[in-house]
Amino acid sequence: MLRTNTCGELRKEHLGEVVTLCGWVQRLRDKGGMVWIDLRDRYGITQLVFEEGVTDKKIIEESKKAGREDVISITGEVVKRVASNDKLQTGEIEVRVSELQYLNRAKLPPFLIDDETDGGEELRMKYRYLDLRRNPVRKSIEFRNKLMQQTRSYLSGQDFIEVETPVLIKSTPEGARDFVVPSRMNPGEFYALPQSPQTFKQLLMVSGFDRYFQLVKCFRDEDLRADRQPEFTQIDCEMSFVERQDVLDMFEGLVRNLFKGLLGLEIEKFPVMSYDDAMKNYGSDKPDVRFDMKFTELNDLVQGKGFNVFDQAELVVGIKATGCGDYTRKQLDELTDFVRRPQVGAKGMVYLKCNADGTFKSSVDKFYSPAQLQDWANAFDGQAGDLILILAGEHASTRNALNVLRLHMGDQLDLRKKDVFKPLWIVDFPLLEWDEESQRYHAMHHPFTSPNPDDMEMLNSDPGSVRANAYDMVINGVEIGGGSIRIHDRKLQEQMFKALGFSESEAEAQFGFLMEAFQFGAPPHGGIAFGLDRLCAVFSGQESIRDFIAFPKNTSGRDVMINSPSPISAQQLNELSIQTNLK
Ligand code: AMO
Repeated sequence: MLRTNTCGELRKEHLGEVVTLCGWVQRLRDKGGMVWIDLRDRYGITQLVFEEGVTDKKIIEESKKAGREDVISITGEVVKRVASNDKLQTGEIEVRVSELQYLNRAKLPPFLIDDETDGGEELRMKYRYLDLRRNPVRKSIEFRNKLMQQTRSYLSGQDFIEVETPVLIKSTPEGARDFVVPSRMNPGEFYALPQSPQTFKQLLMVSGFDRYFQLVKCFRDEDLRADRQPEFTQIDCEMSFVERQDVLDMFEGLVRNLFKGLLGLEIEKFPVMSYDDAMKNYGSDKPDVRFDMKFTELNDLVQGKGFNVFDQAELVVGIKATGCGDYTRKQLDELTDFVRRPQVGAKGMVYLKCNADGTFKSSVDKFYSPAQLQDWANAFDGQAGDLILILAGEHASTRNALNVLRLHMGDQLDLRKKDVFKPLWIVDFPLLEWDEESQRYHAMHHPFTSPNPDDMEMLNSDPGSVRANAYDMVINGVEIGGGSIRIHDRKLQEQMFKALGFSESEAEAQFGFLMEAFQFGAPPHGGIAFGLDRLCAVFSGQESIRDFIAFPKNTSGRDVMINSPSPISAQQLNELSIQTNLK
């Protein structure tokens, strides 16, 4: 080893020892007769001191040449600091240097390598290897590592075995576009990168592996957001001989174990909420239940009183912001502007202020009597000092807009605390959703999800009403994982493909291998996959998954560091039998 210790290790116990440290120069302070260097590595920072009359003159001169991020090696004695620095773990000591060697000089870094940096997003991505030197980013990657280790250890302890599935496969329909890879040896044919190992894990159940997991890269060519990357990692799991409750118990166990081990938190049993209740009460299938503010529907109370907007609406629905009755005109206008933004899409907002003196003030009070307004307030259990915010319009879009407003109010009122965690299960999703564009049903989860046994009858007569035997885990408003009990019977799988508008030959061409496998003794099975990157971000109270991925893509799906995607040579294209007009 080139070093005896790390830069985060030395304490009072080491006083008097002669040590050799290696690391990066974080900071140089030159006071003439005294020079200090903060030396940094992954483990921490140690202060080095060079002192006239104590340190060799030549070494002092050399130390003054240190530039930010130079890689150096020093040897010296651990001594007590005159004034200790309790912000540093090594703050009680410093190393009085007797030998100094420059291992590699550094160019001036393009941004400040410190907890707070002056580098913009794009610049930091271009020099991601430098960004990764910064504490917050490094800690996120270290956190991910811990989460991965603990997941492996927990699942292994429950007899799950990790099996790797192929990356060059054929497309699986999870709802996003596939990334494809041309095959040189099979001109004109393509592999697809897996959107998930779904069919393989089911085949492993047919093989009798019984409890499978894999920390696995998945690839989806979809529009990117803070919580979406084109390549991301799943904790992918499957079990045989289980029913829904068994899967929920097992993976609630995993996530509880992660909370305990990583954050030291004991989390109560996760509540289970139906998809219908989630949509009705929160307008979202991933409700943030750290705060209440449930929806209250008002159609019966407000319609037929001459206010056109409400009369014509499919749905009139509101939320109560406790204690916000003193919002000013300006604040209310801001909220109206907020819901009118195209991303939210409401046409307007009606408010009802419950004044301290028991009277009411509403933006539509010329249409409603004080007694009627009192009825509205009662519907929300509104007290003096509360504010009620109401949206109206078509069902789905109004619920969606109110969901966004609810989350916004949650933020404004500081009800979405980063260190509070409220996981829950959402169950009983619809099996199918109607797609206007293609005029056919799509699987809401994926086509391998089994229908709820109670709804089996309706699969032919009323497919849109069939519930799926599927579940999502949601934490703090983020979909962390999703899965289902699968179809394991060829007939039912065929029926499902039919409901999805596949012809028999299409189903056979795409999934014949799976349906055939079901005829060779497929056990009942089910599973789940967690978004590992999202799990890391949610546990850390962050919205973006980017810092939990060592080398992420930007919002256009580019890796700006290696400059990818990039064109390939005419020769490569030729070998792959690909013709293109693109320059
Ligand atoms: P699903 O498509 O719900 O299920 O994905 C499982 C979980 O993966 C995470 N996730 C993502 N994370 C980051 N970037 C993305 N682009 C992205 N897409 C999904 C989410 C999500 O809950 N095969 C099924 C699972 C199963 O049925 O067992 C599947 O992939 O956290």
